[in-house]
Amino acid sequence: MAGKVRRLGILTGGGDCPGLNAVIRAVAKTAFYRYGIEVVGIANGFGGLIENEHFLLNDSHVSGILHRGGTILGTTNRDNPFRYPVGSDNSNPVYGDVSGRAIANLERMGVDVLVVVGGDGSLFIANEFHKKGVPVVGIPKTIDNDLSATDVTFGFDTALNTATDAIDKLHTTAESHHRVMVLEVMGRNAGWIALQSGLAGGADIILIPEIPFSYDSILAKIEARKSRGKRFSIAVVAEGAKLPRGEQVFQEVVKDNPLRNRLGGVAEVVGREIERLSGMETRVTVLGHLQRGGAPTPFDRNLGTRFGVKAVEMAVLREVGRMVCLCSGTIQSASLSDAVAEQKLVRPDSELVRAARSVGTSFGD
Ligand code: F6P
Repeated sequence: MAGKVRRLGILTGGGDCPGLNAVIRAVAKTAFYRYGIEVVGIANGFGGLIENEHFLLNDSHVSGILHRGGTILGTTNRDNPFRYPVGSDNSNPVYGDVSGRAIANLERMGVDVLVVVGGDGSLFIANEFHKKGVPVVGIPKTIDNDLSATDVTFGFDTALNTATDAIDKLHTTAESHHRVMVLEVMGRNAGWIALQSGLAGGADIILIPEIPFSYDSILAKIEARKSRGKRFSIAVVAEGAKLPRGEQVFQEVVKDNPLRNRLGGVAEVVGREIERLSGMETRVTVLGHLQRGGAPTPFDRNLGTRFGVKAVEMAVLREVGRMVCLCSGTIQSASLSDAVAEQKLVRPDSELVRAARSVGTSFGD
């Protein structure tokens, strides 16, 4: 049996989101003051682990950061130790497995258990390290809320607040100008942000990747509203929503790595088509990275804190290869392999979707 845990490592990987600093603070304070354990902060996600960029955290690093967005450790959604650029061939990058280098760095740092705070990509990598014998505890993070094995990820609630606030603001100007307002929100291939902000903001139309839509159906909704004297409409479109022929819209397509393709632009396409077909003036807003920034909501601060505390408790007990999670309101843990097995998507027949339909929201289907 492995000995007493004396030193933890922590890294934040993937896209940042509000609440990361709350997690780092909770891990550090719990480790320092409850267990007398040291914590090494690894800079810039798995990139820092490969390149050996790290520092010993102390109280002043984690003081005054609870309310701050971003991550004091830095992050990246590019560096995968199992597929890392190691050279180039005719100006094409050549990738290799440098996980051994990362593991050697962890040993040099004297890290007994590594805490990985990340979304599905980072937790997938964490699980690969676990399979290689590295003691790992995961903490689920993403504004997209698309991770299985937890009711919710931290960061989602803050993004939801930002998106709902945007819908509220668009509402008043839509009404004044008798326009259709189309708002594009993030979420990758999951419609959670669009669905829940649309429901909270009273959107007339919500388009999500999980429910195919047609322009006829969108038009029917706008016309039905007009006939009731409502001369404006609000549509919330998830960036991953699929156009009627099934395709998604990308801002950037990465030649040798489709997982890194960047979604974006679907609202512009939908908005143009709505204007052409309905004859109503239409405006498009893309909320973008505003959803990832700013101060975390109290919910995300508290969830991040609870996740951080639980992760240290698990590390001390060597409950590794697992991820902390929120299940039916209580903090628990799940195996990393279950957590990354499949993405958590919106079920079209779920209670949330039925509730939205029940109050008259159209999903364009
Ligand atoms: O996963 C979080 C997220 O914000 C997605 O909603 C979005 O598709 C993606 O990251 C954007 O990534 P980047 O910051 O690389 O543009």
